[in-house]
Amino acid sequence: MGKDAVAIVVGHDVVRRSNDSDYPFRQSSDFHYLTGFDHPSAVAIFRTDGGPPFTLFVQPRDRSAETWNGYRPGLEGAKQDYDADAAFPIESLLEEFPKQIEKAARLYHTLGEASDLDRTLIEALDGLRQRSRLGFEPASEIVDPRDILHEMRLFKEPGEVEIMRRAAAISCTAHQQAARICRDGRYEYELEAALGHTFRRLGGSGPAYTSIVGGGKNATILHYVTNDQKLNDGDLCLIDAGVELEGYASDVTRTYPVGGRFEGAGRDVYEVVLAAQDAGLAACRPGNNLPDIHATTIRTLIEGMVSLGLLSGTVDDLFKSDAYRQYYMHGTSHWLGLDVHDVGTYTIKAKPRPLEPGMAFTMEPGIYVPLDDEKAPEHLRGIGVRIEDDVVVTRDGIENLNDAIPKKPDDVEAWMRDQPALR
Ligand code: GLY
Ligand code: MN
Ligand code: MN
Repeated sequence: MGKDAVAIVVGHDVVRRSNDSDYPFRQSSDFHYLTGFDHPSAVAIFRTDGGPPFTLFVQPRDRSAETWNGYRPGLEGAKQDYDADAAFPIESLLEEFPKQIEKAARLYHTLGEASDLDRTLIEALDGLRQRSRLGFEPASEIVDPRDILHEMRLFKEPGEVEIMRRAAAISCTAHQQAARICRDGRYEYELEAALGHTFRRLGGSGPAYTSIVGGGKNATILHYVTNDQKLNDGDLCLIDAGVELEGYASDVTRTYPVGGRFEGAGRDVYEVVLAAQDAGLAACRPGNNLPDIHATTIRTLIEGMVSLGLLSGTVDDLFKSDAYRQYYMHGTSHWLGLDVHDVGTYTIKAKPRPLEPGMAFTMEPGIYVPLDDEKAPEHLRGIGVRIEDDVVVTRDGIENLNDAIPKKPDDVEAWMRDQPALR
C-alpha cells in the first residue's frame, strides 16, 4: 500500500432469499482472506498512516439478536479473537469515517460495492477539503485495493494448499458416493443429494457451486443444474461437483457411465477428452502459460473430433478456423481458490502470464454434441463429456489434487463396482 495509506474493505451482509428468510451467510472472499472474520455486516480498515494498523467495525454483542440469530464476537471478540487493534460498532461507521481517513494521502477502496459507503467516503473527502485552511490535506487518490489483494490471493500459501487438498479428498468421497448409485432408473437429484450429503458429513460448508448432475443429453448443457431427470442405462452422466471447505472451492468433473460400463460412442468420446486432458496436464509447469496449455489441449481434442467424424480437415486448419468451438466452447482453465472462478489476472501487460509455483487452476476439457446437431454423426448426438481436475503449480511441475478420483475407463468401472455405502 505504501506509506500514509488507508484501505477500506467491506464484508458481506446477509442476503434475503424470500419474504423473511435468508440465504446462509457467505463472507466476501477478500474479507475472509484478510480478516478471517466470517460474520455479516463488518468493515475492515487497514492503515499505514501511523494509526492502529487494523480496525474492525462489527455488529456489537446483543443478547436478544444473538438469541435469535446466533453468536456475535462483538468489539471485544474482534480484538481478542481476530487481532484487531481497534474495534467500533458498525452503526458508528458513517460518523467515524472522516476521522478514519483524515490523515491518508492515498485511499484504497473498491467503488461500487456499497453505494452508501461510496457516498460517505466522497462526502468525508469533500468535508476535509473544505477544512483545508485548518491543515487538512485529504487524499487525492482512490485506488482499487483488488489489484494488490487479488495478486496475493492468486499465490496459494502452503496452509491454503493444505485446505485445498483436504477439500479434494472430500470431493473424492462425494464422487464415490454419487458414482455408486449412478444406475438406470435413479434420478439426477439422488446423485446430487449423495454429493451434498457427503460434503456436509465430512465437514465442508456445502457445494462450492451448484452441483451439476447431467444424464444423457443434459451433459451437453454446460451449467445444467435442474438435476431432475431419470438416468438411463447406456447413457453417460456428467457430474461437476466440489465441496467448499473453510472457504476454498474444489471443482471436479467426472463423466460416469450409467450402469457402470463405458460402451460404444460414449466410450469413444470419453477417450478423446481423456487424451486431451492428459496432453494438457503434461504441459502444465512453471514458465508455461494457460493459453499455450489450452492450445495443446484443443489440438488433441481436434484430432479426436476428426477421428470421431465430428470434424474433417487438418488439425492446423481446424484450429485456426475455430471449427472445434461447436463442440468445445469453454476455456480449459480458470484460477481456483476462495472463489471457484478465482481472482487474479490472466495477463500481464496484455501478455499471458507465466505459471509460477503456488498458482492453482483447473484443467477441464470436454466435448458436447448437441442432440439436434444434424451435422454430427447420429450416434454421437446428445453426448457430453467433461473431465476436470484441480492442480497447483509446484517448483518443477504440478500437484494434481484429484489424482485419487479415477479417470481411465477401466479404473472408473472398477471404482463404480466396488464402492461400499458410507456408514
Ligand atoms: N463448475 C464450474 C466450472 O467448472 O468452471
Ligand atoms: Mn467444474
Ligand atoms: Mn471449473
